[in-house]
Amino acid sequence: MGDPAPGADPTRTRGFGIDIGGSGVKGAPVDLDTGALVGERVRLRTPTPSTPEAVAKVVAEIVGSFGWSGPIGVTVPAVVTHGVTRTAANIDDAWVGAEADVLLRETTGCDVTVVNDADAAGYAEARFGAARGHQGTVLVTTLGTGIGTALIFGGQLVPNTELGHLEIDGHDAEHRASDAARDRDDLSWEKWATRLQRYYQTLEKLFWPDLFVVGGGVSKKADKFLPLLELQTPIVPAALRNEAGIVGAALLAAGRSQRRA
Ligand code: BGC
Repeated sequence: MGDPAPGADPTRTRGFGIDIGGSGVKGAPVDLDTGALVGERVRLRTPTPSTPEAVAKVVAEIVGSFGWSGPIGVTVPAVVTHGVTRTAANIDDAWVGAEADVLLRETTGCDVTVVNDADAAGYAEARFGAARGHQGTVLVTTLGTGIGTALIFGGQLVPNTELGHLEIDGHDAEHRASDAARDRDDLSWEKWATRLQRYYQTLEKLFWPDLFVVGGGVSKKADKFLPLLELQTPIVPAALRNEAGIVGAALLAAGRSQRRA
């Protein structure tokens, strides 16, 4: 586990991405030229409680298992401004106001860029996935426990859009339309699609995107619900699936450390 893939070219540009989720912390080196993981990713359980300190130790363990010391990108299910996590969805409340980049830098010894999970996944889709090379406005949504969003224009990410929390018909959108809401309310694909229709129509009206990309675990079953939606905007499933967070985090971290060099 963690060894480079046989035949991996050591001259390729590499980065490292870590994806922190409610149940698992996953990480792997990433080939920045292709967006492919280099070797097997490592997944460890998210500690309970999932405080920043406890999670940082797990991140350090994963990074250490690859002997990596370069820049790393780390996703969190939280708004991140200037390295500080401002909210906490599905992780311990102690993340709110935490200097996540400083803590993770001190714990791992690496240069760390902390980014919102949906931003990382969305950016990866724009670089190497379903919106690869798209020059217009792309809105990536991840349907999971919540709804995460990434807004991309001309290949550039506008971070922390948080459009899963749009208020629609008096409700927080993710409370009605996330995949967790489908489970909780035991909705058929048709019933869920009615809620998704309302959600995507609202996004359309406000952002006029050229393309929607739908990620999150349920995007594996996109054929069950995407054909039920009637939108003006093309809507397609994510291409990178499980690995999008790791890939996007690595790309965003490499971009930032290059800008500072
Ligand atoms: C959070 C976002 C996050 C999304 C997916 C939402 O509840 O507010 O920050 O990206 O869930 O995890």
